Amino acid sequence: MDVVVLDRPEDVADHVAALISRLVERDPRLVIGVATGGTPLPAYRALARGSVDLSGVRLVALDEYVGLPPGHPASYAAYVEREIAGPWGVPAAQVVVPQGSGDDVERRIAELGGVDVQLLGIGRNGHLAFNEPGSAMDSRARVVALSESTRQDNAAPFGGAAVPTHAVTQGIGTLLEARGLVLLATGVAKADAVAAALTGPVSPDCPASAVQRHPRVTVVLDRPAASALAGRGLLEGASSQRVHHPQL
Ligand code: F6R
Repeated sequence: MDVVVLDRPEDVADHVAALISRLVERDPRLVIGVATGGTPLPAYRALARGSVDLSGVRLVALDEYVGLPPGHPASYAAYVEREIAGPWGVPAAQVVVPQGSGDDVERRIAELGGVDVQLLGIGRNGHLAFNEPGSAMDSRARVVALSESTRQDNAAPFGGAAVPTHAVTQGIGTLLEARGLVLLATGVAKADAVAAALTGPVSPDCPASAVQRHPRVTVVLDRPAASALAGRGLLEGASSQRVHHPQL
């Protein structure tokens, strides 16, 4: 596992944008798994401002709320169109967002030949995609109930309206099949979840701990998100901002 700790959230965004740009330069038809939410947004915007042509990539979203009308601005389909596919010039035919029971996203990932690089955020409760604590490490795409803390954390885009109670999400087993994982976290609110995910036991209690099972993981953190890692072994001996050499 490579853990990169940088000063500011903007540095995290620039680092991830540079990493994805390099991969797209090598393979313009890269299959990119995209997390939604606040953390990766600056990286998506940095990529849109960059000079690499992203219009050939294929995008696969991690998850989607259940029960929102099509086009609802808080839906992840709308997020992917507004924040990623639109600004990057990626046609709708190259975009997959989970829907229905989850079988469809499994089939479409298989048709694409798998995900090349999966961008991931992490919930304060350690969730990965919408795999909440208790999710099996070999779980597949399915409909799940959202925890109260997740619904509270995700309330802002709903502007006071009720946050859906369920979502369809790729499973942990689905995510671990991506060829590379890039986990991003910024802000001190994520520090405990990051420490549990990277240095705790691999357990359904912390779904994000599943990343320890993947052979190619890059974790990109700002200092506050990395703050609970001190003394846990992972960062010892670090003499610079980059703790390990990047694999991806
Ligand atoms: C988003 C997703 C979630 C988020 C996580 C962090 O598609 O599946 O796991 O990555 O909730 O969200 P932010 O980045 O908003 O803190």
